[in-house]
Amino acid sequence: MYDRGASEFDFEIGCCVTNRLQELVILCVFKFNQRNACKMTDNDNIQVCIRMRRKIPREENSENLWMVENASQITEIGPNHRPFVFDRVFGESDSTEHIYNELIAPVIHKAMEGINGTIFAYGQTSSGKTYTMLGSGDRNCQGIIPMCIDHIYSEIEMIPNRAFLLKVSYFEIYNDRVTDLLSLEDRNLDLLEDENGDIHVSNCTEEIVNSPAVAMNLMKKGEAKRRFKRHR
Ligand SMILES: Nc1ncnc2c1ncn2[C@@H]1O[C@H](COP(=O)(O)OP(=O)(O)OP(=O)(O)O)[C@@H](O)[C@H]1O
Ligand SMILES: [Mg+2]
Repeated sequence: MYDRGASEFDFEIGCCVTNRLQELVILCVFKFNQRNACKMTDNDNIQVCIRMRRKIPREENSENLWMVENASQITEIGPNHRPFVFDRVFGESDSTEHIYNELIAPVIHKAMEGINGTIFAYGQTSSGKTYTMLGSGDRNCQGIIPMCIDHIYSEIEMIPNRAFLLKVSYFEIYNDRVTDLLSLEDRNLDLLEDENGDIHVSNCTEEIVNSPAVAMNLMKKGEAKRRFKRHR
């Protein structure tokens, strides 16, 4: 699960309107049937969705930039009035829980059956990636990652005759550098491509976890390192 990244699907919207994206998070969901089975053109396996947030206090006096037309279209407000269509558009009244139940829960459910899934949030600074993925810090406003962790454990409880080994890694891609957020060292990681064309992050820390609380503590540890790096 990622809170930053890029995909060819947002190139169009990204290139056209880069300075007008601060209210929008682009959520991409990938489902891989097996290794290499998901090409970027397999539309059934890829969903690109938008979440539009409400204005935050510092934007109170600024104009609205986008309008949610319906469950799959947003329109740029302004002279061009350009429409953009996505697999799904979530408006400001849609909670993260609603997004989770509709979009993310099926991916986690399939992942427990062995189908790889990826969820990433892409967007301009302040668009709401961290709010969407990690939550607001308020227990009543959880993010997608803690919901995924709880969901994974509740699915495991329903399959008592199978053993699961869960490992957590947390790394950041920022300014073309990959940093291991769970390592005490401040080291950059290499991206390697294997003979199948799969991309791997080399030597990333993997922590075995045995409860939702342990997994969430690792996320918090990684977040603390991320913030420390930003502010030093
Ligand atoms: N859906 C939402 N509803 C209400 N407030 C939101 C929503 N999404 C984001 N916010 C608020 O908007 C502000 C910016 O959000 P956030 O920190 O998640 O952005 P970000 O995309 O992670 O930015 P950065 O790239 O700088 O890390 C925060 O104050 C957050 O609480
Ligand atoms: Mg953030």
